[in-house]
Amino acid sequence: MVDHLFLRACRRQPVPRTPIWMMRQAGRYLPAYMAVRKRASFLELCRNPDLSCEVTLQPIDEFGFDAAILFSDILITLPGMGIEVEFPESGPKITNPVRTSAAIAALHVPEPVPYVMEAVKKIKHALADRVPLIGFAGAPLTMLTYAVEGGGSKDYAQTKKLLYGSPKDAHALLDKLARTCATYLEAQAAAGADCLQIFDSWGGIVSPGDFREYPLRYAKLVIEMLRASPARDVPIIYFVNGCAPYLDDYASSGADVLGVDWRVAIDEVRRRVGTGVALQGNLDPGALFAPPAEIRTRVADILARAGSTGHIFNLGHGVLPETDPEHVRAMVTAVKELSASS
Ligand code: CP3
Repeated sequence: MVDHLFLRACRRQPVPRTPIWMMRQAGRYLPAYMAVRKRASFLELCRNPDLSCEVTLQPIDEFGFDAAILFSDILITLPGMGIEVEFPESGPKITNPVRTSAAIAALHVPEPVPYVMEAVKKIKHALADRVPLIGFAGAPLTMLTYAVEGGGSKDYAQTKKLLYGSPKDAHALLDKLARTCATYLEAQAAAGADCLQIFDSWGGIVSPGDFREYPLRYAKLVIEMLRASPARDVPIIYFVNGCAPYLDDYASSGADVLGVDWRVAIDEVRRRVGTGVALQGNLDPGALFAPPAEIRTRVADILARAGSTGHIFNLGHGVLPETDPEHVRAMVTAVKELSASS
């Protein structure tokens, strides 16, 4: 295995420059992605290992990112559990949201999705060790929000009804989601994924006490299960969108790398979580609407705050579809040039 910058940074080993990749790097801001989407629906893309492989490599070829991320979606594990998902233009939709103890009891902990494992193998072959491949899954709490809300939400009323109105049911559902997540990630590592990211996109909607009781507790359970599996040495990234209120507990997740959104300065995160974990982040995805010179200034600021060891440059959340690809290129160039000279 080549000694990749990205994997070295995950392990907090010294690097000649800071590695960079971008959440949602294969997606709608990229003309090459839109060209493939003209031929196939989003679900068809996810289910077809050749197409998934093709779009996974697009941003690597175009911008020279230091890691590839499997092209798929966190919601792809739900149908196997018994939860049906559709992807209309307006965003993901669950046709049978789970809101009762009986519905939770009826859910399965499924075998890992076979077409995803096939995609991982194809992508690994196509990458030929150019850059490492990140596999991923949704964290239990984030998956619970989709399962019970039936889609995205503004106030997470159904989620909170379940968590605080029927905590026993909430824990039963989170336990099934955690076991599904761990089995799925373990299988991705067995198929060749070099790193695993757990997306807690909506882990930031609760109070600090409830963060410990729900998102963190079940992310920890997933990480413990992975550490007890043959995938034990694969680096794990835990990303909580809106992590700032939880910094005193964040490092106890057991992950090798903590994802940092843009609402908090990355040097403050470093002070609060200590030096035992790497950090990933944290440019505001919206900052890519600024002119390239301003993007460079903001990149320099983050690099200076993060330091050169144990930092993976990334956005604080997924790139927005309206983003100009040339501004993405400006960010990548700035990270590569400025981190090498610092
Ligand atoms: O990062 C990558 O490039 C890999 C691919 C990837 C997608 N989704 C592709 C996608 C990854 C890692 C995800 C994870 C995902 N999916 C998350 C966690 C990360 C985050 O952004 O918080 C979440 C919450 C989802 C659920 C989801 N899927 C939503 C809310 C949406 C619609 C809104 C949106 O941003 O598009 C999707 C659809 C989706 N997933 C698209 C892509 C490229 C757009 C579908 C299309 O092409 O029409």
